[in-house]
Amino acid sequence: MNNQPLTLALPKGRLEKDVQAHLAARGINFSFENRKLVAQDSQGLLRIMLVKNADLPVYVHHGIAGLGICGDDVLYESGYDFFRLSHLPFGSTKMCLAGRKDDELQSSQGGVLRVATKFTRFTRDYFHNQDTAVEMIKLNGSVELAPVLGLAPYIVDLVETGSTLKANNLAVLQVLQEINVHLIANPAYYKYHYKQVDQFVRILEQEA
Ligand code: PRP
Repeated sequence: MNNQPLTLALPKGRLEKDVQAHLAARGINFSFENRKLVAQDSQGLLRIMLVKNADLPVYVHHGIAGLGICGDDVLYESGYDFFRLSHLPFGSTKMCLAGRKDDELQSSQGGVLRVATKFTRFTRDYFHNQDTAVEMIKLNGSVELAPVLGLAPYIVDLVETGSTLKANNLAVLQVLQEINVHLIANPAYYKYHYKQVDQFVRILEQEA
């Protein structure tokens, strides 16, 4: 790769370390020093931007980063179209409907399911496709509090280990969708840089 470095957006938070370890195991090393949010890897292959998870699709959609690493949950919520170039072997979770452990799943308040969630687009479309009327309450985090405090009996949220649900005396009532992590590309960026991007995909998919 003799060209300019590829631009890659990475999500802050729980995926950050997994991505860094995955790349390091394939010889791509970088670090964000002194709270800087842009870094370059030691080989000069990548210019990496550390962005908030929910903002990642915005940066890739606008071409600020040509590539990004992101889960299906965030991609769906963004409403943008991307190329999904590679499925990464970490970070998989499940989008679930959850509620109190002993609760039977039932529509409340005149047949409407009252659900608190961060994932309003997904929740609206999922229940619309099931012909189930849903009233959504948008939250930005710690969604498990909603049934505990009586804001809504149900939540739609990501479940990874299940420990947050368990700690709050909640349980999965229904698994709605498997969520995986992908390398995505801005379609126009891919068109102009496909050789370089394909080389990067091969590195990403190497056995460590
Ligand atoms: C996510 C998700 C759950 C939790 C699930 O939240 O929204 O709350 O992780 O993980 P577990 O099944 O392993 O317990 P996150 O930590 O990203 O923060 P948030 O509550 O602010 O959304």
